[in-house]
Amino acid sequence: MNVIILFMEGNFDLVIFGGTGDLALRKLYPALFLADCDDRLHAGGRIIAAARQTLDNDAFRAKVAEALQRFVPKVTGAAQEMQAKRDASLSRFLARLTYFILDANDATQYQALKRSLDERDSQTIFYLSVGPTLFPAIIGGLKASGLNTPDTRIVLEKPLGRDLTSSRQINSLVLEAFAESQVYRIDHYLGKETVQNLLALRFGNTLLEPLWNRSWVRDVQITIAETVGVETRGEFYDSTGAFRDMVQNHLLNLLCITAMEPPASLDPDAVRDEKLQVLRAMKPWTAETLRESLVRGQYRAGSMGGSRVASYLDEQGVAVNSPTETYVALRAEVSNWRWAGVPFYLRTGKRMAERRAEVVINFKSPPHSIFETPLAPNRLVITLQPEESVRLYTMAKAPGDGMRLREVYLDLDFQQFFRERRQDAYERLLLDVLRGNATLFMRRDEADAAWRWVQPVLDHWASESTPPIGYAAGSWGPPASSRLTALAGTAWHEEQSV
Ligand code: NDP
Ligand code: BG6
Repeated sequence: MNVIILFMEGNFDLVIFGGTGDLALRKLYPALFLADCDDRLHAGGRIIAAARQTLDNDAFRAKVAEALQRFVPKVTGAAQEMQAKRDASLSRFLARLTYFILDANDATQYQALKRSLDERDSQTIFYLSVGPTLFPAIIGGLKASGLNTPDTRIVLEKPLGRDLTSSRQINSLVLEAFAESQVYRIDHYLGKETVQNLLALRFGNTLLEPLWNRSWVRDVQITIAETVGVETRGEFYDSTGAFRDMVQNHLLNLLCITAMEPPASLDPDAVRDEKLQVLRAMKPWTAETLRESLVRGQYRAGSMGGSRVASYLDEQGVAVNSPTETYVALRAEVSNWRWAGVPFYLRTGKRMAERRAEVVINFKSPPHSIFETPLAPNRLVITLQPEESVRLYTMAKAPGDGMRLREVYLDLDFQQFFRERRQDAYERLLLDVLRGNATLFMRRDEADAAWRWVQPVLDHWASESTPPIGYAAGSWGPPASSRLTALAGTAWHEEQSV
């Protein structure tokens, strides 16, 4: 049975600044299209792309149609009915799109945008899918033209600044024009299905809660490993680096969801208050931890899937002898009653051996063993991508004589249980913005607390002359990251026995 759900209550106008850019074409239109195919967009919803390029509506729609062809995941086999639905929905979706030529830096052009939006009564959302250097001009233009009415919403793409000072400047600027409740700061990792599942696993079950603390957990490991390099974003990446691009936002958000106390409800502020408490409890960096608990690396030429790939320093847009890190591993601590003394290892890198995002909870070893076989501590592995699964590693008796124990796992494969199509992170987050649900978006104080914690690392690296450690593309990063875990007598998940 097909259940038609119309979540949106009325007309909406979604204005995408940077509507011809990579993010819009690769992520935003495919997400909106899939939502439309499932009848989740109100019939009176319009999508208005704003950018400088000279295009008319037809040329713009053709560009989006081509992007949908490339970036919407294909349906296979038994899902042909779904494909027929998609084909039928395409013209409806394209008809929602219009193109508006606008130079964000030209303050006079916002009045014309206002006139086109004033034609009808609708919920207006401004999505800033542009680099942060354009935020001041766009926010200023919206304010000066009176487009920032109290019922509008504004979505800010990451990166929200490049340090504590610039992120505060952006936040102050946006809050001069909009109330905090109108502002949606995106971190697309919070929209991923398995991140939501982490909430379900922790707070929808009683089993884990008694173990989820310093008495039973030895360490926590959070990894986002990518096989891609910097691709076409060399210039952007070279001025950003892995720490700002991934740690300050995605990894810290995963840490918050893993470590936070149970919120009183799923109310946006209840969840965000608990995440904020974790950020505020992050143990501050010291001269010693900056030296001992932090590894930065940069990929060199290597082999990926049998093909040679270039060194980071030879990528287009990357400066000669660039000191930018493409890999970070670190040991953090959450200094509160639940987690005091438990290491949280975070790591991320480009051009790594596998594409994998996971949260690993390593439990403590049994206090006493009656077996001759060494006991591997229990491990809960929550995999976000490429597949979604939860695995609990336990010891079991191997068949045969004697009591030889071997590590095995209990596997919860979500694909097996849920046949429904998974929403992409951007689809979920865009629908949440349209519905006005801010639970999965960063509040100003959260963003501020995250930057406050990362700033000493940025300052430390800025003052250092030692370059990042090279690692071969296709590896798991520099050996120093294994030493980081070995210091505490543990090892990264892939280095532990199965
Ligand atoms: P692109 O460079 O591909 O696109 C930039 C967009 O901004 C284009 O539509 C461009 O169109 C428009 N633009 C540039 N200058 C102006 C101007 N003066 N006035 C109006 N429009 C302008 O960038 P991305 O789409 O990759 O990224 C956008 C933002 O999203 C960045 O901050 C990026 O870091 C962030 N982001 C990107 C991700 C990705 O996967 N691409 C992932 C997560 C975040 P035109 O030149 O025609 O004006
Ligand atoms: C983005 C980063 O925020 O996240 C990219 O800017 C990175 O550098 C991407 O590749 C990873 O997202 P995902 O969803 O592909 O893991």
